[in-house]
Amino acid sequence: MSENYRAPIVVVVGHVDVGKTLLLDKIRNTMVAYREPGMITQHIGLSYLPWPIIEKYAAPVIERYRLKGKVWVKGFLMVDTPGHAAFSNLRRRGGSVADLAILVIDLTRGFEEQTYESLILLKSRNIPFVVAANKVDRIYGWKPIPNASILDSYNAQDEETQGRLEEALANIIMDFNKQGFEAERFDRITDFSRQVPIVPTSAVTGEGIPDLLVLMAGLTQRLVKDRLRLVGGPGKGVVMEVKEEKGLGTTMDVVLYDGVMRKGDTIVAMGLNGPVVTRIRMMVMPKPLDEMRDPEDKYMHINEVEAAAGVKVIADGLDDVVPGSSVYVVQGDPKPYIDEVVKDAASVKIETDQIGVVAKADTLGTLEAMVLYLRSQGIPVRKADIGPVTRRDIIDASVVRRKNPLYGVVLAFNVKVPKEVEEEAKVQLVTIFQNNILYRLVEEFTKWFNEEKS
Ligand code: GTP
Ligand code: MG
Repeated sequence: MSENYRAPIVVVVGHVDVGKTLLLDKIRNTMVAYREPGMITQHIGLSYLPWPIIEKYAAPVIERYRLKGKVWVKGFLMVDTPGHAAFSNLRRRGGSVADLAILVIDLTRGFEEQTYESLILLKSRNIPFVVAANKVDRIYGWKPIPNASILDSYNAQDEETQGRLEEALANIIMDFNKQGFEAERFDRITDFSRQVPIVPTSAVTGEGIPDLLVLMAGLTQRLVKDRLRLVGGPGKGVVMEVKEEKGLGTTMDVVLYDGVMRKGDTIVAMGLNGPVVTRIRMMVMPKPLDEMRDPEDKYMHINEVEAAAGVKVIADGLDDVVPGSSVYVVQGDPKPYIDEVVKDAASVKIETDQIGVVAKADTLGTLEAMVLYLRSQGIPVRKADIGPVTRRDIIDASVVRRKNPLYGVVLAFNVKVPKEVEEEAKVQLVTIFQNNILYRLVEEFTKWFNEEKS
């Protein structure tokens, strides 16, 4: 039954230093030991983990739950996120390109600033997730069993050590409760559609990783199956990042979630100044580590790529492309595709005469997440746009200020405020709030709002 389903796209999120990258590295390296040659492909910030290899690695867990032959998930396409911008750009109209997420929390530290931030983003995009409570090897007295199921490891610990793990888990569960989520150790869950499962893991010893992977397969089959059905045909994707690369010029990293993309294809994406129609000159992917002999030559050229995948695209006119924009391969008349990317961008940007704040963000993805969050907090938005704060924004806010001083402000998320714009804001008595953490930004604004109101 798996023919028409693609691998789920799994995004790994969480606070700095909790072990997101090391978890992925550990999985990849361990998988290498189990793999048939060439089976693990490294895409742009993505790695593909085929199920047949996971199955060998996770055999004890699969046996415990009698899952042999019952898993039709082909594998996972794992996306490591260095920050919330990349995560926010995994968007498509009305939702997310990521099908599932792993929220990594450091067991020894519990909830941290970006844990809250990640939760807001997961909630606003409605992405089901599992929690990896990582660094279990740091629990005092822990005796590791490399790559074991966490339940086997747990049972092998003495009572005090088990107690220390339970205490750390209880704290995390309590923090989830405060955020309005019900969470539970994964093997104690009674209802997966309601409760968030927590798996203790270690990216150093590999413990808990088999449980995490098997759990993800289960959740995929239960919760997101319909999303994985492929339509096929010309490629559909999303622009994660646009950047200069030495020797390649301006490139864009694309996550393809349906169809096929080929070298020479005409593609359409949204630019800062309108839609960009161009031809793919080149597509590359990083070479697998064991083939990377010459560090100058870290990419391999590819002619064709099929969803789900990540790929770096080289073409003319990419400088202008907005991260978070949709990208479509054109077949026949480009008009409908152009209309589609324009409509998509328009669904995020806001321009009204309404009383409300001016919202600015660095990408289409962060802007969308910001507007969704502002609305969930009951804060009206007059204007939402991409890019640094401009004089125009200050004037728009000052117009609002005259009618309602409390909403005549600019909220700047991850964008710069040029000096002359700051000066203009002072003259116009417009307050600019600036922060790279979404909930902090909104918190600062609401605090100011309540003080000014009274
Ligand atoms: P950012 O990408 O900066 O957000 O961090 P990250 O979440 O990718 O964390 P990373 O994988 O870089 O790990 C951060 C530090 O924690 C490194 O020094 C790791 O060696 C250490 N670390 C990660 N996972 C574990 C673990 O399971 N156990 C122990 N003992 N250390 C870990
Ligand atoms: Mg990292």
